[in-house]
Amino acid sequence: MTVINLLKTGRTRSSLFVACRSPRQAQNNFIRNLLKITANLGVVLSRLSQGMMKDMVRSKLADYIDLANELSAAELDDFIKLMELAVQKHDPVTADHQKRVTEICGFVADNIDLPVNRSALIRAARLHDLGKIGWPPGLREIRVSKKGGLREIIKTHLFLSLYFIEAVDQLVAEADIVRFNHIFDGYPADLEVSEMPLEAHILSAADYIDALISPRTYRRDRTLAVDYAIRLLNQRDYPREVKSLVRMKIENN
Ligand SMILES: [Fe+2]
Ligand SMILES: [Fe+2]
Repeated sequence: MTVINLLKTGRTRSSLFVACRSPRQAQNNFIRNLLKITANLGVVLSRLSQGMMKDMVRSKLADYIDLANELSAAELDDFIKLMELAVQKHDPVTADHQKRVTEICGFVADNIDLPVNRSALIRAARLHDLGKIGWPPGLREIRVSKKGGLREIIKTHLFLSLYFIEAVDQLVAEADIVRFNHIFDGYPADLEVSEMPLEAHILSAADYIDALISPRTYRRDRTLAVDYAIRLLNQRDYPREVKSLVRMKIENN
């Protein structure tokens, strides 16, 4: 992995880099250190105002930002793989969800009769839930108040995913896709559906259907029948072509 060489050679002064002999060791150290700095960050962020959230994340992720700033175009894909491994290590259920969502997005992009930025869509799908590494492990187990404490923690993942993605200059289009991902769930509140790019509609629709029919980290036992999930998908304001291709992909699985 070229990005591991970046970590190994110490081209970055980031504390995410730890001197080590093998690329595998460098990779494992990186992931361990990244998960250490994001551990329970979601819980902390859920109690802060938007401005305070930014300050907290900026100070926690300073080393990550340094690394992201040094990435060359050739290192981008390896970097995304590294981030996928971090999600896999922290939360395999979410890693599997990201893979299925990426597959649905690929199918829609390949079959839709509209211009679509396929590579940005795929990268966005692969990274869209990266911020869940800030969730406590076994999130569904934690005690939360009935006033929506769990929901507030869940919402922090979008903020954190975006922070990770926006730090990489080469991922501007991907950030513009991910930022709309939960617009129909009501957050963030300052976005308009009319400004949503087609790729964001595809990702959001793929994400929504997979969330309904597959096990999730925080509600592992509550999945819906495919027919009912498709009915819910159809109630959302995605383009008709997107909904029918997502439906086709799900029904053929
Ligand atoms: Fe999400
Ligand atoms: Fe997701």
